[in-house]
Amino acid sequence: MGVIITGTGHYVPERVLTNYDLEKMVDTSDEWITTRTGIKERRIASENESTSTLATKAARRALDSAGISPEEIDLILVATATPDMLFPSVSCLVQDQLGAINAAAFDIEAACTGFIYALTIAQQFIITDFYSKILVIGAETLSKITDYTDRNTCVLFGDGAGAVVLEKGEEGKGILTADLGADGTGGKLLRLPAGGSLHPASIKTVEKRMHYTKMDGKEVFKFAARNMASSAIKSLNKVNMNVKDIDYLIPHQANIRIIENAAKRLHLEKEKIYVNIDKYGNMSSASIPVALDEAVKGHFIKKDDTIVLVGFGGGLTWGSIVIKW
Ligand code: ACO
Repeated sequence: MGVIITGTGHYVPERVLTNYDLEKMVDTSDEWITTRTGIKERRIASENESTSTLATKAARRALDSAGISPEEIDLILVATATPDMLFPSVSCLVQDQLGAINAAAFDIEAACTGFIYALTIAQQFIITDFYSKILVIGAETLSKITDYTDRNTCVLFGDGAGAVVLEKGEEGKGILTADLGADGTGGKLLRLPAGGSLHPASIKTVEKRMHYTKMDGKEVFKFAARNMASSAIKSLNKVNMNVKDIDYLIPHQANIRIIENAAKRLHLEKEKIYVNIDKYGNMSSASIPVALDEAVKGHFIKKDDTIVLVGFGGGLTWGSIVIKW
């Protein structure tokens, strides 16, 4: 039995924050942001929007494209590092907003690699015949944990959500294999220190701005370039494939230079890589499913193509998935 993607969808908030807007907020420039990251603008959620509302909109679009109703879904899995609150999970909030009354629901947290982890978990439930229709969502409102006085981080992140519907399909089609990895020793390189059990929310943590993302950009950059390429090769090798078999690569969109560096290590042509970082910035676990939906709807991906999804993120974590479309 194969595990195939039968529908995709995405949603991004309406408000656009450009590099020129950021020039008025911190000591930066469009030139610096464009050359160092490839980002021109990003979307920002409104006060009334949260990760679950973005996720639900993306999910409705994925369900429509799969042609199934919310009641048919057996499980909702949301990958996010920016849940509406610590509990209930975003998945439960989405289940309620969709009216997916027959679905179990839980969240996955693997930072920007979250969608890769979630898709791999969902695949296992279908292979083992435990469930037959699963909604997998990557959704983030990173603007809500971004310090807009810190130029090192505030230029990088944006908000959005992408979703896919996974179902049983023909053998040899759909998700062929995956590679997942983690290195907890690098946890300190990318973290949101407060609001959890170690540093619960308090006036002190707020004063110290500990509820915002902290990052060692240089170290994350080196780790990302290394692991994106090696993970893609590892998962391809698992199914006796290599880089030459890739028709299309959908990488996590964190920095255009990281994507180009990984492409160089893989010896993969630019034309085979989907890039939308200029429009959205880094949307963490939403980056890959949003790019996947755009690539599918834009007809960049054709039937029988071999697609590789590859990402990295806080944790540290990384992962890749090989799909026969
Ligand atoms: N505008 C202008 N100058 C800036 C800005 C800015 N927005 N940000 C930093 N600078 C300055 C720095 O202060 C530094 O100045 P200094 O030399 O006087 O100290 C200078 O620019 C160079 O800084 P570098 O850190 O060397 O810049 P670099 O080329 O490494 O780019 C960046 C920084 C874009 C953050 C890069 O390191 C990067 O993309 N790293 C990966 C980040 C990432 O992918 N994070 C997400 C991971 S996924 C997840 O889980 C969320």
